[in-house]
Amino acid sequence: MDKKTNTDQIIEQKVDALLAQMTLDEKIGQMTQVRHFDDITIDEIKTKFIGSIIHTQGPTPGKDAAEWQAKFVELQKLALSTRLGIPMFFGVDAVHGQNTYAGATIFPHNIGLGAAANLELVEKAAAITALESRATGFNWVFSPCVAIPYNEKWGRVYEAFSESTDITTELTKASVRGHQGLSGQPVSLIATAKHFIGDGATDFGVEGGNTTLSQEEVFKRLLPPYRAAVEAGVGSVMASFNSLNGVPMHAHRMMITDVLKGSLKFEGIVVSDWKAYSRFGGTDVINAGVDVVMAVEGDFNMYQEGVRNGVLNGIIPQERIDDAVRRILRQKFRIGLFDNPFPDASLIPKIGIPAHRDVARQAVRESLVLLKNENNLLPLKKNARIVIVGEFADNSGLQSGGWTVNWQGLKENYAGATTILEGFRKKSTTEILYDKDGDASYEDVDVAVVVVGETPYAEFMGDIGGEMNIYQLTITEEHQKLIGKYVSKGIKTVVVLISGRPLVVTEQLEQANAFVAAWLPGSEGDGIAEVLFGDYDFKGKLPHSWPKSVEDYSGKYGPNFWDNTIEPLFPFGYGLNYK
Ligand code: BGC
Repeated sequence: MDKKTNTDQIIEQKVDALLAQMTLDEKIGQMTQVRHFDDITIDEIKTKFIGSIIHTQGPTPGKDAAEWQAKFVELQKLALSTRLGIPMFFGVDAVHGQNTYAGATIFPHNIGLGAAANLELVEKAAAITALESRATGFNWVFSPCVAIPYNEKWGRVYEAFSESTDITTELTKASVRGHQGLSGQPVSLIATAKHFIGDGATDFGVEGGNTTLSQEEVFKRLLPPYRAAVEAGVGSVMASFNSLNGVPMHAHRMMITDVLKGSLKFEGIVVSDWKAYSRFGGTDVINAGVDVVMAVEGDFNMYQEGVRNGVLNGIIPQERIDDAVRRILRQKFRIGLFDNPFPDASLIPKIGIPAHRDVARQAVRESLVLLKNENNLLPLKKNARIVIVGEFADNSGLQSGGWTVNWQGLKENYAGATTILEGFRKKSTTEILYDKDGDASYEDVDVAVVVVGETPYAEFMGDIGGEMNIYQLTITEEHQKLIGKYVSKGIKTVVVLISGRPLVVTEQLEQANAFVAAWLPGSEGDGIAEVLFGDYDFKGKLPHSWPKSVEDYSGKYGPNFWDNTIEPLFPFGYGLNYK
């Protein structure tokens, strides 16, 4: 912020005035983020001056949105009853809609939005996510992930938009705008660009690994989305689990303080990732420039004591603490939290409403990438005799991927979602058959639509291998058989692939008559039938280049922009349509 507006100036004055009154313990409290259960006692919210609460996996705050709000009202009242009455932030991993709440609108994961590459759509999706997050009591979301994945073995490829820096940068801007409103305008929630920096570029696609990359490459390839996020006024940036050339990012003072806060002029909060204090060097994390720490799962006392002792012993400069607290208070004033500390009950009826689901369904339609369409098998006729095959076709958990209701996702249906099969049944003018396990003996059909894919996973669990990896970027044998079964009967077969990344499906592409990459569509599975029946054309283009064989992964980087000695099966940007 070079030119400060009047509002900015007023906020800075308020921040200074409040900061001047704060004790060291009150400041450390602001720099502490804990869960609403387990990490602390209720009393400690007051006595330890907790500045923010995170909700992620684990017990929910209640059975419905009213109870979630009530829980956060109760906790907020405790914060307000402290000497200075500084309200708390409530943060959530809302990475494709308010995905911790069954019944919210769940959008395709970012990889699907990267395929759609529609700025207006991303902005709308982010605005809906923000609204539904606020409706469940939150004012801080840990999204968007603006990683540039280099390697499909990384289990978080789908959280990122694309392997293209340019597309990611544009979509980041739109996402921040959607979440927070226009820069300089009043906002009611802050977004988070994550994970700073190099998360998707670790040497073997391993979460939290080491990213070996020159500074020039980091600046050219990975930094632009962060610059865009800062320019759009993003309220926070999350530090990453990975190291950069051997230095843990949480302790990387040069990148956090000199580059992000210095060169990029970021005035928001740098938040740590999970348990970062004990993982990445204690006081080094604070000295590197991290402002708020997720002091969870047993870290809480050690963190608060460590920072207190660090300041008293002169290891952490007082100015560093003041910088952190200034940033936190600034964002709290900016979203009007002092005037409106409680969630807005009038938003509750808006969770998962049809107008929101319409936007999510549009995102599903636009995210689909048509990779093959032999003899124009698609679009399907609405009166065709169709069998839908595979359990992924009728399971909204499986179609949504990780970070859906649970951290690692679900294998069963969840509230409010529509499955792919239900979508076909809505649109068809005749009976749609369903062969869940591939053992029904349907012969008398025109087309089989076989839905296969990856079982949901999130960070860590979704990584494939490491240095000694046995590659598994293929679909399971069971799913290969499912496709083969209908192909071998001579029945025209459409394959719909549900996956968080491109998989090696070279053989299946040859077998199938048509092939659609559907990524992780989320709650509106009926968007798929709308395109396969031709109500809409395909619009999606590959946001990643598509590998030909598992050997393509033997290098440090996957077959994307990075290693141009490997020729992909389909290049970045590929995608057919009906015209
Ligand atoms: C993830 C973050 C997430 C945080 C809080 C971490 O393990 O890396 O993306 O925001 O957990 O749930």
